[in-house]
Amino acid sequence: MLQTAAVTPITPVQSAIDELRVLLGERLSTSTGVRDHHSKDESWHIPHRPDAVAFPNTTEEVAAIVRVCAAHRIPVVAYGTGTSLEGAVIPEYGGVVVDLLHFDQVLQVNADDLDVTVQARVTRKQLNDHIRDLGLFFPIDPGADASLGGMAATRASGTNAVRYGTMRENVLALTVVLADGRIIRTSRRARKSAAGYDLTRLFVGSEGTLGIITEVTLRLYGIPEAMAAAVCSFDSLEGAITTVIHTIQLGIPVARIELLDDVQMDAVNRFSKLDYPVKDTLFIEFHGTEAGVKEHAEMVQSMAADNGGGEFKWATKTEERNHLWTARHDVTYANKALRPGCEIWATDVCVPISRLAECILETKKDLKEGFLIAPLVGHVGDGNFHLGFLIDRNNPAELAEAERLNERLVMRALAMDGTCTGEHGIGLGKMKFLTAEHGEAVSVMRDIKRALDPLGIMNPGKIFTM
Ligand code: LAC
Ligand code: ZN
Repeated sequence: MLQTAAVTPITPVQSAIDELRVLLGERLSTSTGVRDHHSKDESWHIPHRPDAVAFPNTTEEVAAIVRVCAAHRIPVVAYGTGTSLEGAVIPEYGGVVVDLLHFDQVLQVNADDLDVTVQARVTRKQLNDHIRDLGLFFPIDPGADASLGGMAATRASGTNAVRYGTMRENVLALTVVLADGRIIRTSRRARKSAAGYDLTRLFVGSEGTLGIITEVTLRLYGIPEAMAAAVCSFDSLEGAITTVIHTIQLGIPVARIELLDDVQMDAVNRFSKLDYPVKDTLFIEFHGTEAGVKEHAEMVQSMAADNGGGEFKWATKTEERNHLWTARHDVTYANKALRPGCEIWATDVCVPISRLAECILETKKDLKEGFLIAPLVGHVGDGNFHLGFLIDRNNPAELAEAERLNERLVMRALAMDGTCTGEHGIGLGKMKFLTAEHGEAVSVMRDIKRALDPLGIMNPGKIFTM
């Protein structure tokens, strides 16, 4: 007689894991530690473990992994450095995380063409170390030392975007593994092309929902002859923002122009051992020839003086400049240190530059009336700024307050014809605002998703629900 007692059914996930183990051997992990590591990013969003983590070596292996997942209809989530700020890499529905750890080679530097092709897990700092001796640099610099594949996937930017653009402007081509295992290259290295749909820009910012990026071709720039950074404190926030708006409207080619409010300056001073005045402050950088830098700096200096700005404190030596920008890039960590054990709910909006003062000042008024601490920092030359709410994720009152203030901020930005995210992406945190921002256009995004990922296996539950 057949025994009818407990037989554990083989789930689709288990079948996929068994097949992947044959394919990858020890480069497939189901250990709790590894799954935990891949359950989260740097956001406040609640972690969720994947069922397994794969460490492929080649694009063909990524394609084989995706085909196995497609056959069993289980989620596939690409992973770079895990530094996203809106939950983009959290495997909400479990499945297989494809960690591109071994994709760490700079493949081809074309110095004469000012471009480079890298594997997806090369980080921005690794790339810059690689090309520095050639007199070249890659400017896009989100706070974290993120992977270039992840930066392409989230359409990242950073402090240099005001001069050099975002990943949208700086990705020339991508190699992508599609949901059915096809491998495509979206473009050639030519600086411009009118050949067909712009698939490069479709995948830039798709947050892993349409395919997995394994190689990235990027624009490079010559290291400028002269670079100088200055710090300027203001009597009022309005004065600082007015200086920024006029700088942009006059077309003065600043390389970076960053606003840190008094709360943010206090956090930065403490964390990075600096002693700037605890006032609303601009960090400004100029790139160009010696004469150009001098001329542009004088122009901004005189506008700052007209708007209640103090002396420019210059950082011209490389070490001083690096210290300043490292301090700026570390704001998320500085904010965490203000309240040990807290999570940072980092939010991010961007408005047309003429509306920036209004948007920031109304936001500050909201913050004064609320009870959460939230340093304000921003890439204000682009009209982009962040709040970092310091929250205890287990305190419902704090979560509700952050949600309320965030919603008011986003709606304010949308009312000004701005966007709910200038750089952090939609991920999990901004999903509910996508229709408010794009209306019917979201249905076109869904059509594209259905066409490229009919089984819905690529990073499901991100950007929009199906
Ligand atoms: C920054 C991150 C929060 O600007 O985007 O530092
Ligand atoms: Zn930012």
